[in-house]
Amino acid sequence: MSAKQKEQEHQREKQKLKEQRQKERALHTQKTQLMNMRKRLEKEKSPYREIVDTIHTVFGKQGTELAHNGSSTYAEVTKETITGIVDMLKDHHEYKEDDCLFDAGSGIGTMVFRMLVELHCCALGIEYCNHRTFLAAHAAINFFAEYRLDERFNQGTMLALGDLYNLQQIPKQVTTLIMYDEAFPPGLMLHMADLIQAAPPNLQFVVSAKVNRESCYSQLLINAGLTDLGNVKGSKTNNGGATTFTLFKRLEPLMNKDGGSAAPATTSVLPALEKY
Ligand SMILES: C[S@@+](CC[C@H](N)C(=O)[O-])C[C@H]1O[C@@H](n2cnc3c(N)ncnc32)[C@H](O)[C@@H]1O
Repeated sequence: MSAKQKEQEHQREKQKLKEQRQKERALHTQKTQLMNMRKRLEKEKSPYREIVDTIHTVFGKQGTELAHNGSSTYAEVTKETITGIVDMLKDHHEYKEDDCLFDAGSGIGTMVFRMLVELHCCALGIEYCNHRTFLAAHAAINFFAEYRLDERFNQGTMLALGDLYNLQQIPKQVTTLIMYDEAFPPGLMLHMADLIQAAPPNLQFVVSAKVNRESCYSQLLINAGLTDLGNVKGSKTNNGGATTFTLFKRLEPLMNKDGGSAAPATTSVLPALEKY
């Protein structure tokens, strides 16, 4: 090997080492940011916020019901707003019948039903208020009756009664997580961020509204491995109040643990609840 070649080899090694160190530093910074975010969220709790958070933790859904029988945590956005979110999703992904939406806190199912009409995929909703879940089940009967003749329409849909705090993993079929999360307490946002970070590879997109209320939540989701793709401005049905939704994409490659490609989502979401 000539002196010139040796020098080139040496430079390449140096460059490799430099890149490796940069990667390690970036990873370290990301980990530190996440730790700081958690500490900040813990610290920044006002006494009032701490009380509300404790009520949520201790009483679960009764905490919500205490707040004006749950009405203060309930909101829906207009049909136009949902169409705006759907269009944004379609700009980034071609939805097929084996895609699965997951509406975390699905209320009476409005978001799920409206999206299904446009996306023809399957869906899962989890809602911890009995009354709302009952109404959603009732609405589902009419909804499916109305759409049963539309062959594009996918009936692989489930609206379940459950508390998101008890969810230990985002079901592996889920490709898009929708959170109309403006009223989610900080603890629930942290829990959802953990679930997103550890989600199976099929999860590609996350929609959140709360990230537009406080920037720390946007940072939280970015630290969980998401990147911001854009916003849709919308309004609430009851008081016309503004709500902006942000679409995020997951950064991790769609690979399973063994390095193979991700398993395809199934058309039914029923097996997804096995772990739940
Ligand atoms: C703003 S509403 C949105 C309803 C629905 N996603 C829609 O857009 O039509 C938020 C819902 O999240 C539910 N929720 C809040 N915390 C929850 C939890 N820990 N587990 C399950 N549902 C929860 C609330 O009860 C409420 O119905």
